[in-house]
Amino acid sequence: MDIPTDVSAPTTSRPTIPVPTTPVPTAPAGTTAVPDLAAPRFWQLPAAARAAAFADLRRRPAPVYFGDRATGRGFHALVRYADVVEASRTPAVFRSAPGVTTPEPARWVRLLFGDSMVNLDDPRHAQLRRVVSRAFTPRLLGRVEEDVRRIAAALVDEVERGRPGDFVGPVAAQLPFQVICTLMGIPEEPRRRILDLVDRNSADVGVARPLRRRFRIPGRGLAALARMQGIVAAIGRERRRRPAEDLISALVTADVAGRRLTGRELGAFFSLLLVAGVETTRNALAHGLHLLTVHPEQRALLLADLDGRLDGAVDEILRHATPIVQFRRTVAVDHELGGPGGPLLRAGEKVALYYGSANRDESVFPDPEAFDITRDPNPHLGYGGGGPHYCLGAHLARQEMTALFRELFTRLPEARSVGEPVLVPSSFDHRVRSLGFAF
Ligand code: HEM
Repeated sequence: MDIPTDVSAPTTSRPTIPVPTTPVPTAPAGTTAVPDLAAPRFWQLPAAARAAAFADLRRRPAPVYFGDRATGRGFHALVRYADVVEASRTPAVFRSAPGVTTPEPARWVRLLFGDSMVNLDDPRHAQLRRVVSRAFTPRLLGRVEEDVRRIAAALVDEVERGRPGDFVGPVAAQLPFQVICTLMGIPEEPRRRILDLVDRNSADVGVARPLRRRFRIPGRGLAALARMQGIVAAIGRERRRRPAEDLISALVTADVAGRRLTGRELGAFFSLLLVAGVETTRNALAHGLHLLTVHPEQRALLLADLDGRLDGAVDEILRHATPIVQFRRTVAVDHELGGPGGPLLRAGEKVALYYGSANRDESVFPDPEAFDITRDPNPHLGYGGGGPHYCLGAHLARQEMTALFRELFTRLPEARSVGEPVLVPSSFDHRVRSLGFAF
């Protein structure tokens, strides 16, 4: 899901430094102009340079506006922990419609494919979320836990047999994909076809790809999406006739405000689960293996007490790597951030919630650059800042990461990354294309 912040707009028309209007944030003495977060080249900078830019932004008295505030083409960058939490938990002011990604989905795309719940506000969001949460019952999740362990064990069997040199495609991406298909009740046969379609849909993502291709991809991606949703809708029709013990059956037989999910809504939800659940978990697993490789003392701590420290390690990976860089909200009414007298955000303006920056906020996380699996407390915002859209799959993601690392480090204690991860520069997610792997 590569929908970077406004990078689809011609970058030449953008200023390279922010053009704030009121209130004017001034850089404290000694700091320089902030690099433009809306420029693709910012996301190609080394991680340390980006971290320094965010640290500088966090020190400023008000969020910086990137773009042209007079015309509304741009956004306020929310970079502090407290600001991201406030925006996440005040949905009456910070709306998810018309979209949390930039550029927002075109109207015809939304009409054709159905609105994904992540882009909806109440009451429609609450209705959809209620039916979906009901389907994530403890009974279903309890069964899934068994499945997750079984799938993780089978993957490590494969690793031992095939000795893949890459960790991402053959291992990290497989686990969440197989888990979601199992959870939904997708039969084995269409899985291969769906995986191909997902690959096609998300091929060449990231701001690094040439502009020419960026314009070509949507058509190809949407055709793949349409085919994928068609497959799922067909399974939905079948389950409506003969329900089984799976999520698709629960979704097509449950009531959402007096009616069932339509085939289109089912397709939209499945795409959301794939996009939200596969790529995020895949990237978290890859970053995790690498972090545990380049911090041998943390790895030794973990292996000395896998049961006792795995949960803490997973949280610290989520904090340190922050797989989703940012989501957007649209301000519904004039709002003073942080309370009366705070910076004024005007109705209609956009804000970007930078989760990674919030996760490095020095006022919440001492020594934030350090990777410390014993960090306690660790109230990271890797799954969002709370509120109605808080990640629906947070529990499942934890189950998956825990299961894979437990299986991997128990059976292959030498498992490690080799070299640096190949990253795909993106202002939307912290994506790893490939990661050398040995054991
Ligand atoms: C490490 C893995 C994951 C990360 C880092 C992650 C992160 C996030 C974030 C940041 C949000 C937005 C929260 C907000 O706007 O307040 C979100 C929403 C969501 N996530 Fe996840 N996620 C992960 C795994 C999963 C999995 C495994 C699933 C499903 C199987 C999933 C399903 C969803 C859904 C459906 C939403 C939208 C919820 C709503 O709008 O109500 N995620 N996730």
